[in-house]
Amino acid sequence: MTEILYAALIDAVQTAGSLIRKSTGSRMAVEFKTSWSDLVTAVDRAVEQAVREAIRTRFPDHGLVGEEMGGGWDREYTWVLDPLDGTTNFAHTLPNFVCSLACYRHGEPVVGAIYDPNRDELFAARRGGGATLNGLPMAVDLAQTLRESLIGTNLLWDVRENRFHGLPALQELGKEVRGIRSLGAAALELAYVACGRLTGFVQFKLSPWDYGAGLLLVTEAGGRVTQMDGAPMDITTSSSVVATNGLIHDDVLHHLRRG
Ligand code: IPD
Ligand code: CA
Ligand code: CA
Repeated sequence: MTEILYAALIDAVQTAGSLIRKSTGSRMAVEFKTSWSDLVTAVDRAVEQAVREAIRTRFPDHGLVGEEMGGGWDREYTWVLDPLDGTTNFAHTLPNFVCSLACYRHGEPVVGAIYDPNRDELFAARRGGGATLNGLPMAVDLAQTLRESLIGTNLLWDVRENRFHGLPALQELGKEVRGIRSLGAAALELAYVACGRLTGFVQFKLSPWDYGAGLLLVTEAGGRVTQMDGAPMDITTSSSVVATNGLIHDDVLHHLRRG
């Protein structure tokens, strides 16, 4: 079964990638969702529609949870889709955006892929089968200390509390690491942890479609993913995400907690 799911996965993210690529390069018309900084474009919707149809045709009894059209976790197999992660970048022609898709069975990841149409990079993994970048094995960074580590994050403005979420915690971590980067596309940053370009990635709140594929990529590439309090991930809910090469994981959690 895994190979059938994997073939469908790769097909779907590459089709998504070509749809996205056709519309890149010019500033996109945007609509607003929950606030003036929460954007959606016609491309997000078109890609989600196309991937939904592709999965429904091949696997009529599977579920799909997508950012733009929703869905539930009541089936044995459920796909989790972010048709376009990094929509704000996309709308501004900043080339950091990807399509992220994974298939879960009873809440456990089976296959996952993140496709970057700008660099033609396909990050993919099968559970227990390792992770690849354009077909070649990939692995997390070897850094053993925070001083050698480059960490990704994205600041989130909390409208109700009128503050950036987690800023003090990031400040504590920032004092210890080599650098902090913000690429504006969580799925891309998780793929970069999996291939060793980032040593870790931290975000205080992400949705299942943001991290569904990245979680499998990082663990299959030898890393570790938990919530900020060290608890295991639960794909059915939004939560904090700490993804690292494993070697620095406890130190990252420790310094985040100090903040
Ligand atoms: C967003 C991006 C961003 C992260 C947000 C996500 P979207 O996803 O991944 O980097 O900070 O939390 O919602 O809206 O571009 O798919
Ligand atoms: Ca997203
Ligand atoms: Ca999205």
